Amino acid sequence: MPGKDSVLGDFYYREAKRQGYRSRSALKLLEICHKFRVMKRGDIVLDLGAAPGGWLQVASHLVGEEGLVIGVDLSEIEPLPYKNTVLLRGDARSLDLQESLRSISGGMVDVITSDMAPKFTGIHDVDHGRQIVLAAVALELADKLLRPGGKMVIKVLMGSDFEPFRKEVKSRFSGVKIFKPSASRDSSSEVYLVCHGFRGSIQ
Ligand SMILES: C[S@@+](CC[C@H](N)C(=O)[O-])C[C@H]1O[C@@H](n2cnc3c(N)ncnc32)[C@H](O)[C@@H]1O
Repeated sequence: MPGKDSVLGDFYYREAKRQGYRSRSALKLLEICHKFRVMKRGDIVLDLGAAPGGWLQVASHLVGEEGLVIGVDLSEIEPLPYKNTVLLRGDARSLDLQESLRSISGGMVDVITSDMAPKFTGIHDVDHGRQIVLAAVALELADKLLRPGGKMVIKVLMGSDFEPFRKEVKSRFSGVKIFKPSASRDSSSEVYLVCHGFRGSIQ
């Protein structure tokens, strides 16, 4: 008999498809945005690790025509039929890419979301370590591009480096919540840090 995770996984997969989303993951951001009001009409959103584009679909809808969503991924993202979405292929760590982000956004963004994930090995400590490195890359980008008062959503895997990383995030934001969306598998140690009130760059 299939386990609860696989039954629920199939359910969320079918539900995301039914709603026209490119990824199951879109349902996670939808839930986060409904619960924590992470983005609003007119916002400029930077989405890191955006392929295949489920989070972009959610963000594009929420910020509306007055807003802008910039999606970045190592992999190519198939174009989306929205005028408020710009896609960049590249590594979030690249300084050239960061320069492009600065010029497209006009210097600052209101929200950064990061669903970036490494290629998983199945060895928890390795995957956890690599995930934290990517989460730290996202946090560094907040120092460079997030406006004071801005918001952020960062994917992490629980593990030994989680608490030091959470402290690092807490030093930059007035509020940080740990949230596991319903569409996230029980068997996964994945959680999201939902952050409000960016205090401004500490550089
Ligand atoms: C879980 S997927 C994101 C799914 C996406 N949120 C959606 O809803 O369609 C994680 C993505 O992170 C990307 N990624 C990993 N490392 C990256 C990096 N250094 N720079 C940019 N993207 C990266 C991967 O290529 C992968 O597409």
